[in-house]
Amino acid sequence: MSGIGRPLLELDHVERMFGGSWLGRLGGDNVVRAVDDVTLSIAAGEAFGIVGESGSGKTTVGRMIVRLLDPTAGAIRFEGQDITRLRGGALLAYRRSVQMVFQNPYLSLNPRRRVRDMLLDAYRIHHLASGRDAEERVAALMEMVGLRRTMLDRYPHEFSSGQRQRIGIARALSVEPRLIVADEPVSALDVSVQAQVLNLLRGLQEELGLTVVFISHDLRAVSFLCSRVAVLYLGQVMEVAPRRALVERAAHPYTQALMGSMPSLAPGSGITREVIRGDIADQQPPPGGCVFAPRCELRRRLGDPDRCLTERPWPRELSEGHAVACHFADAEARPDTDARPEATGAAAGPTTPTTPTMVGISDPTRVPAVTSTGATT
Ligand SMILES: Nc1ncnc2c1ncn2[C@@H]1O[C@H](COP(=O)(O)OP(=O)(O)OP(=O)(O)O)[C@@H](O)[C@H]1O
Ligand code: SF4
Ligand SMILES: [Mg+2]
Repeated sequence: MSGIGRPLLELDHVERMFGGSWLGRLGGDNVVRAVDDVTLSIAAGEAFGIVGESGSGKTTVGRMIVRLLDPTAGAIRFEGQDITRLRGGALLAYRRSVQMVFQNPYLSLNPRRRVRDMLLDAYRIHHLASGRDAEERVAALMEMVGLRRTMLDRYPHEFSSGQRQRIGIARALSVEPRLIVADEPVSALDVSVQAQVLNLLRGLQEELGLTVVFISHDLRAVSFLCSRVAVLYLGQVMEVAPRRALVERAAHPYTQALMGSMPSLAPGSGITREVIRGDIADQQPPPGGCVFAPRCELRRRLGDPDRCLTERPWPRELSEGHAVACHFADAEARPDTDARPEATGAAAGPTTPTTPTMVGISDPTRVPAVTSTGATT
């Protein structure tokens, strides 16, 4: 996909299925296709967001990037090298280069170990520093994430949830990674501290030139932190765009519905507010068609064109770096386009404005006000 610098990380037609026997998978029996032919490129130093509802495959993508899971098809390349083939020392080096920050900082920290020892581990395991040098680095890390060095001798339960997430971030940074995958790093935190941790992440990303893959169901948090965003739905990429293009000209009906649920993003953004029907889990997508079809209001307005049910829409570029997986994403914006349903033999439906109702989308009132500084929480 164009619009970025030299990629650090590439997902090339990546698929991950769960369940079923090997033979059953061929026939599609009892299989969850958690990630379904995802292709993405992420540049060095970029903050890249992956957003979508629960069950859209975000965590599965993150776990494959850090090699906690292998894809069932496709390739993941880091600096051009297929990571699924790494073994021994090369795998250890990759594991150091790529770190994950988890949703629940309490579960990801060993309750019986002092913070100092947890942070020193990384230096020991990867032979990065020892003795006084390691002690100094650990103290500097604490300050980098907005904690005091005097807190190093505490246990995880002696911290607030926001402070624990700062420790999780410090631990990820301790091995001087090139890439951090942050999976819902603020969604388990109180609304009042979410913004502080987001600010910390953004400051660190800019200061250290880190590449960050930020995974969230919260489009507003993703828009705050990331310069480009991919929208996932049932394991497929619906839209990829620079943040600004996404906020101002979201083109996929699903992205528009997500946007419409975010009060501070939708008004005046120039995007259409779409309706979304039902829940991600309760509607079977048509085999071979568009996975969003059962919930798509644009399809209904266009008179239910057959193409939505019979042909998977692959991401196509509407403008540089802005790709959309919808046959009709530009049908209403450009009435003369070939993508109009008439061109495919389907009748156009009424185009009356839609009511901004949202069903099955996360509660927009939980979105944090991203304004405060990264001070200690
Ligand atoms: N180990 C597993 N075994 C079977 N199915 C799985 C497994 N892990 C994930 N899945 C399924 O894959 C799909 C995607 O899950 P995933 O956790 O990646 O979604 P998500 O977007 O991260 O959701 P959430 O926002 O709730 O964290 C879901 O349908 C889930 O049930
Ligand atoms: S291809 Fe059809 S069903 Fe899918 S998002 Fe576009 S209009 Fe909706
Ligand atoms: Mg998840």
